[in-house]
Parts: sequence; structure tokens; C-alpha cells
Amino acid sequence: MTSLPPMLLNGRNPAASDLDWLLASRALAFGEGVFTSIRITAGQAVFLEDHLLRLQSGLAALLYPSEAVDWLLLEKEIKTLSHQLQEGMLKVMLLAGPGGVGYRRAKKQVWYRFIRPRLLSINNQAYQAGIACWWQACPGSNPESSSKHLNRLSQTLASEGCPNHFAEALQYNADGKVSEAIARNVFWFANGCWHTPSLQTGALAGVMRRQLLSHLTTNQVLQVKSDLETLKQAEEVFVCNSLQGIWPVTSLQDANGCLANWPIGPQTQQLMAVFHPQLGLPLN
Ligand SMILES: Cc1ncc(COP(=O)(O)O)c(C=O)c1O
Repeated sequence: MTSLPPMLLNGRNPAASDLDWLLASRALAFGEGVFTSIRITAGQAVFLEDHLLRLQSGLAALLYPSEAVDWLLLEKEIKTLSHQLQEGMLKVMLLAGPGGVGYRRAKKQVWYRFIRPRLLSINNQAYQAGIACWWQACPGSNPESSSKHLNRLSQTLASEGCPNHFAEALQYNADGKVSEAIARNVFWFANGCWHTPSLQTGALAGVMRRQLLSHLTTNQVLQVKSDLETLKQAEEVFVCNSLQGIWPVTSLQDANGCLANWPIGPQTQQLMAVFHPQLGLPLN
């Protein structure tokens, strides 16, 4: 078994006494904090700048000042652990410590940086043959749905709702619009152009989504509010995240059976060829 580098809490090994603040923390009580999972390959943290930017905008969405965190130190710690880990992933969490009275915050809040190295399992089949997705209603969205904050009840309930033999589900919001997968954003190709749900549908602002939006120029991709009928007409569909890259979607099903089938097409393969080498992931 490969040994992993140690976890870092504020730059040191966590100690048993850390339970004292953790059990009293606003992170544990109210989910006040943000997190991200970063792909590490060849000792490098892939899309690190985007991950740091999303942590920063997530903190701002929770109405905390950016000075709460020493960003340069966090970046340095991530780079050091990436080098030690070489292959796998880092889970980075910013946790609000104890403070305030009930929901009411204190004037000044203490923050903790937590970085946990982990191995990443690669689902080779998903790249080669694509995946079947389950079609389901999003259980509900939190405020600030585009941020990666620690309130993940919608995703855990969505996972419970998705039958085990489906690797992912595509979800629709309360208006019936396609929003995202459970732990991935969704893109589809139709009428000569890529489409992805706008953040107003409740989709998370994924790092991979952002990379794809800046790679595809504005006339090659539209951010949309679309329903199932539109999605069914797509020529190609994929789901993506910044850890496991692009998974082609080959069918969509619900309790009544198959709703749509799509091929693994050339447009999707082209994007896999652009992004998978830097993510250290298979092309097919
Ligand atoms: C709900 C949700 N949407 C989208 C994503 C994709 O985000 P990213 O590309 O930053 O990994 C994730 C990642 O875990 C997620 O949990």
C-alpha cells in the first residue's frame, strides 16, 4: 500500500486537542466553510489558480473577508504536499472555528486550513465506453449554490436517490431545467455549439466548467436554461469535474426506461484530448 504524505492543519500535523475547537466550530455546527478537491499528477496541482479563486469567491459568498485566510501560505502548503504526493488528489478545506452566539457571528472569526492527501481511483470504463446517467429532480438547492461551501445536503440526498448501478445522475431544478450532475457539471453539443446550464439553474461553478468555458470561445459555447426535450436532441453529452475530467454520457434513464441515447462523438473526444493529458487521465 502506497503511503500518503501527512494531513496538514494550519501547516502542522493535526493533534487530538484539535477536537476541542473542531467540535465547537461553526464549520461543524453550520457548515460554515468552503472546500475543493484538486487533481495532483506528476507532483503538480492541476488548475491550482482556479481552485484558489473559487475558494476565495466561496468565502466572499459566505460574507467573510478575504483576509480571513493567508492565501500565499495555503498555496505554498498545497504545492509542497503535491510534490510529496506525486499522484492522487488533495482535499482542501477552510473551516470556520468557534465563535458567535448561535447563528449570529462574532465580529472576528478564526479560520483553519486543512489539507488531506488522498489516492484517486480512475474509472477507466467511463472514458472508454461512457456512462449511463439517471434522470432525477434535484432535492433542492442551498443559497449560494454556485459556491463549493460545506452545506452538501442536496448532493448527499441526490446520491441516495440515484440507483447504485448509475455512476452519475443528471438533475433538473424546480423549474424543470437541467442543472448539473451530482458531483459534476454537464455539457452537450447541439446545432454546431456546446451548451451548459447557466449558474442560475443552481449549478456549481466547477473549475473544469470554467476551464472549458475559457477554452471554448464565446461563439462555441452557450450558458443556457434548457429542459429535457432540448437535452434529448443533443448530438453528444458529457459530465465533468476537475478530478476525473470528462466522462461521455451515452444514455439517460429514469424509472420508465430509456429517455435518450448519445454516441461518444468527435467533439467530446477533442476536448478529452485537450484536457486529459494535463490531468493525467486516459484519452479513451
Ligand atoms: C455539485 C457539483 N457540481 C460540479 C462539480 C464539479 O466541480 P469541479 O470541476 O470544480 O471539480 C462538483 C465537484 O465536486 C460538485 O460537487
